Amino acid sequence: MEERTDYCGNITEKYVGQKVSLDGWVQRRRDLGGLVFVDLRDYKGIVQLVFNTDHQDVLDIAETLRSEYVINVIGTVRLRGEGATNDDMTTGKVEVVVEKVEILNKSLTPPFEIKDGIDSSEETKLKYRYLDLRRPEMQKAIRTRAQIKHSVNEYLYENGFIDIETPNLTPSTPEGARDYLVPSRVYPGRFFALPQSPQLFKQLLMVGGFDRYFQLAHCFRDEDLRGDRQPEFTQIDLETSFMNQEEIQTVTEGLIARVMKDEKGIEVKTPFPRINWDDAMDRFGSDKPDVRFGMELQNLNDIFKETEFKVFKGTIDNGGQVKAIVVKDGADKYSRKNIESYQEYIKRFGAKGLAWAKFNDNELTGGVSKFIKAQEAQLVSTLGLENNDLLLFVADNKKVVADSLGYLRKAIAKEQNLYDPKEFAFIWVVNWPLFEYDEGIQRWTAAHHPFTMPNEEDVHYLDDGEDPHKAYAQSYDIVLNGYELGGGSIRIHDYKIQEKMLKALNFTKEKAYEQFGFLLDALQYGCPPHGGLAIGLDRFAMLLSGKDNIRDVIAFPKNSNATEPMTHAPLEVSKQQLDDLGIEVSKKD
Ligand code: AMO
Ligand code: AMP
Repeated sequence: MEERTDYCGNITEKYVGQKVSLDGWVQRRRDLGGLVFVDLRDYKGIVQLVFNTDHQDVLDIAETLRSEYVINVIGTVRLRGEGATNDDMTTGKVEVVVEKVEILNKSLTPPFEIKDGIDSSEETKLKYRYLDLRRPEMQKAIRTRAQIKHSVNEYLYENGFIDIETPNLTPSTPEGARDYLVPSRVYPGRFFALPQSPQLFKQLLMVGGFDRYFQLAHCFRDEDLRGDRQPEFTQIDLETSFMNQEEIQTVTEGLIARVMKDEKGIEVKTPFPRINWDDAMDRFGSDKPDVRFGMELQNLNDIFKETEFKVFKGTIDNGGQVKAIVVKDGADKYSRKNIESYQEYIKRFGAKGLAWAKFNDNELTGGVSKFIKAQEAQLVSTLGLENNDLLLFVADNKKVVADSLGYLRKAIAKEQNLYDPKEFAFIWVVNWPLFEYDEGIQRWTAAHHPFTMPNEEDVHYLDDGEDPHKAYAQSYDIVLNGYELGGGSIRIHDYKIQEKMLKALNFTKEKAYEQFGFLLDALQYGCPPHGGLAIGLDRFAMLLSGKDNIRDVIAFPKNSNATEPMTHAPLEVSKQQLDDLGIEVSKKD
């Protein structure tokens, strides 16, 4: 086998007349009898090979070639004949007349064709992931991910950050999701937890005097999967000492700008806009607003407080909200049936209905228009209504209204092409509440994590006799096109504040010491003020690759049932292994 001259996809006119040695996979073979064409593929592209009777021995071998055979060929590059060129391919003007061919390996017939846009099930693609990865779009996505990592490493080292690894066998930390546990053989009945993030360790590195840490950290969370969530994923994880929120945001913007420039050739404008969490919820119904388009939520409580329409009046009287979105020029695009299907959908957020009206010939018509005639003039002026506008109202408590209209706003914008899918709109969501109420477990939890510093002026809310849930935090999320790309905070470095915070979260001192006593100790040995953030590498790579599932940028992901169709993990283990660990399995699926 002779050394490869270049990749298949790089064989252009510049090689005409030259002898080349190429390696690759057979994309397809066309046998014209005495003349065989083979498309040879590597990750750079495809080049056309010609086998003819000038080399009968080579032609004989060519006739046995099948899709995905791995071959090496030696041949001479020539221009293709008149009318035989293909302008869609970089190699489309040339072909390689083969003089020598070696089959390096054969292949079974693959379960799907190795090309973009194939119609094969996700399960099959994951089962044969090594074949799926050969497809050009997968090659591109995984390589984009690698390039992002490269840019991140460069940028962070240039800015004085150093890469420090933290352990994967750790105690369980309170990051919010369920842990993946690892049983200890040495101490039967005891468990390590795989880290949900390196949060506590990176804080300890600050106490340890490494003032700018980063790590491309592998994180593990046993939570319900979605398109942008995997049980294991990677964070671009940062922590710094002596930097305030603004400074950390500036470093992060620099990092993102560098990646956008390197990977997309886009100069993003910094600083990114910032929006308070309260305003994001109010205007977009979401803590991760997609700001590529308007159609913001409009609060109509003032207009409807005296309305005869009982649905709206009753909600307002009970302390709820009436809000609407206006679909500009949308009245003729949405039938009653379309609206009803949306009404059905938003029931999952708890909505009891979806009221609507259309503005046509300068008046409100259809839907609930007859009940809200008295408010019509005010609606027209406040909302700036124009003919053919569609109004969609939800009346309910704040959360239901935000979730329902927040969802509708995004769904309709997508349907109506209200934004350029190629645009990248970054925004910081700042000033988060320190706590949030978890309906599932019916108690207050830390909105970010329990080590997040309250706003200075809100620290007193943690004192006895005050309402801690009024406090806002020095935390910040970076949002891209409606996705939470990353999040972070200034941490509590003051032991007294940390104690109060844990108390507000109903931790007893014993429980807190049992779970993260090491951190509480460390806070008392000259812990510097510090803060940081973590960006989801998978989500960043997904958005830069124009994909809508992070699976597509992870070489070997789990499927939506948190299993792995190729290796079939998780698997049962032998009785011996269980015995060694002192584990008895009482429940099987
Ligand atoms: P957080 O929990 O917000 O913060 O996570 C940071 C970022 O990690 C990504 N992410 C995920 N990506 C894929 N699959 C998942 N299951 C998943 N979960 C999270 C998101 C998210 O924005 N220790 C803090 C960071 C800090 O405060 O410095 C933390 O982990 O993009
Ligand atoms: P009803 O008076 O219950 O028949 O409702 C009249 C209209 O108001 C219907 O279009 C319902 O979908 C809508 N509606 C009912 N409850 C709500 C609500 N909470 N928010 C918005 N619209 C509602």
